[in-house]
Amino acid sequence: MSQTQTLEGKRELLLKLRQESELGGGEARIKKQHEQGKYTARERIERLVDPGSFLEFDRFIISKKAVMGKGESFLGDGVVTGIATINGQKIALYSQDFTCFGGSLGSAHAKKICKIMDFALENRIPIIGMNDSGGARIQEGVEGLAGYGEIFYRNVKCSGVIPQISLILGPCAGGAVYSPALTDFIFMVDKTSYMFVTGPDVIKTVTHEEVTKDQLGGAGTHAEKSGVAQFKVGSEDECFERVRELLSYIPPANFTKATPKYTSDTIYRDNVKIKETVPANPKKPYDMKEIIFDVVDDAQFLEVHKDYAKNIIVGFASVGGIKIGIVANQPSVLAGVLDIDSSEKAARFVRFCDAFDIPILTLVDVPGFLPGTNQEYGGIIKHGSKLLYAYSEATVPLISIITRKSYGGAYLVMASKHIRTDVNLAYPTAEIAVMGAEGAVNIIHRGEMEGLTGKAFDDKKAQLIADYEEQFANPYRAAELGFMDAIILPEETRKRVYEYLVALKNKKQEKPKRKHGNIQL
Ligand code: HXC
Repeated sequence: MSQTQTLEGKRELLLKLRQESELGGGEARIKKQHEQGKYTARERIERLVDPGSFLEFDRFIISKKAVMGKGESFLGDGVVTGIATINGQKIALYSQDFTCFGGSLGSAHAKKICKIMDFALENRIPIIGMNDSGGARIQEGVEGLAGYGEIFYRNVKCSGVIPQISLILGPCAGGAVYSPALTDFIFMVDKTSYMFVTGPDVIKTVTHEEVTKDQLGGAGTHAEKSGVAQFKVGSEDECFERVRELLSYIPPANFTKATPKYTSDTIYRDNVKIKETVPANPKKPYDMKEIIFDVVDDAQFLEVHKDYAKNIIVGFASVGGIKIGIVANQPSVLAGVLDIDSSEKAARFVRFCDAFDIPILTLVDVPGFLPGTNQEYGGIIKHGSKLLYAYSEATVPLISIITRKSYGGAYLVMASKHIRTDVNLAYPTAEIAVMGAEGAVNIIHRGEMEGLTGKAFDDKKAQLIADYEEQFANPYRAAELGFMDAIILPEETRKRVYEYLVALKNKKQEKPKRKHGNIQL
């Protein structure tokens, strides 16, 4: 009897194969990976998931070329897939192994990713993709492309059903970028990851522009300029930490009620810190984050898209353990104005929260839409409408608080009563009007000021502005009409938000049946 036919021999063979697969593309390539400041595919999994929770799938798959005896082969074909837990919650994942064919995607590699995505979808658990790949496997020709197609199709099928998270931990170029782009959140590691459709060499040939990989598609570029990445992190370890934090705020799938988030913060405490955050002078900026940090549990707020379109803030937090999404204008950046980038950023966030049943708290201080040819030529009309659409479409509990300005179209867009926000609140400092006092006076009182010059002109204008402010720069007109449900003091914010969230827990809102709406793209 040969060695492999004995029980002991069979066990040993399995252990030997397991050991072989652990080594990916071999020690020399692992060393190179480490020298580049990157972990291997398996080291990444170990650092991301709860210790000992990883169950691997398809460990012994090899590439088709290897099966036909035409090339080098690696057990697992350059990607490690499986299920595990993070904070005790089940997730599915794949982790591309750059040490095997540069993590490139051949048909067997793609099949493994598709299998784990199908598993995640059928079992309603989040899917996390760790990308570190040279793209389609050149030796496999169109089969690699077909593999990407299958993955993209699944990304779309999973969208809004299970959360999809992409970690970019190395190269991600060409058409390969479209899988992460179809997912909900992209994390990029500074200096070691990049994403672009066409690389620096092609750009140089076609447009004669010279640009480095990092300038073109590094973490900074996508987190600050393009908005492609929601999170830029300094290292892979920080990346895994942030992913675990993100998962602590989101449910495993749609139609799955979120579990409460543990907090030791008292629900019924006054927000004394923010009593005077909103300045008496309406022109003076202030930091909306002061209000957010004081209102939420334990001052913990996971900001999404932190470095992009900073005139609006979006992110996750909890109040009394109830997990929420927060959308807030930021008066300290561009006076909190809405523009193309901030509208898109907020709209995408609102749609994520709505898809996954996460209530949204909106904090409003918005002077309007940003004027200018750049904005108009760039399509502020269509991009601004995305936010209007997203809020109007949302059926999750919606609470809004106007802290100061809320003017014109932006008043309507930012979770107004008219687009079906459930509870509309305002601070006594709120100003709700068609436009700011000065602009309004210039239009409606032009005649009265005509012919006046010098001090007479200034005095008249100041008096008209004061009259306008007296009449419109307050929340009481809107309250008289029922557009504000209550005017609250800033220090009452936390307890009010909590109580309304509890009251809205069983909210059900029916929408007319349709295949899908037609949101501006
Ligand atoms: C097969 C590949 C590969 C690929 C890299 N390798 N990319 N093998 N197919 N696409 C292999 C290399 O042969 C090498 O094998 C190992 O991976 C590491 O590659 P290096 O070049 O030594 O590494 P590095 O210097 O770090 O450069 C990494 C790289 C470069 C920038 C990713 O390898 C590269 O430019 N690769 C080609 C990228 C590409 O053009 N891909 C196709 C894009 S089009 P050994 O045996 O030496 O370890 C695409 C279309 C998708 O992806 C369309 C979807 C719709």
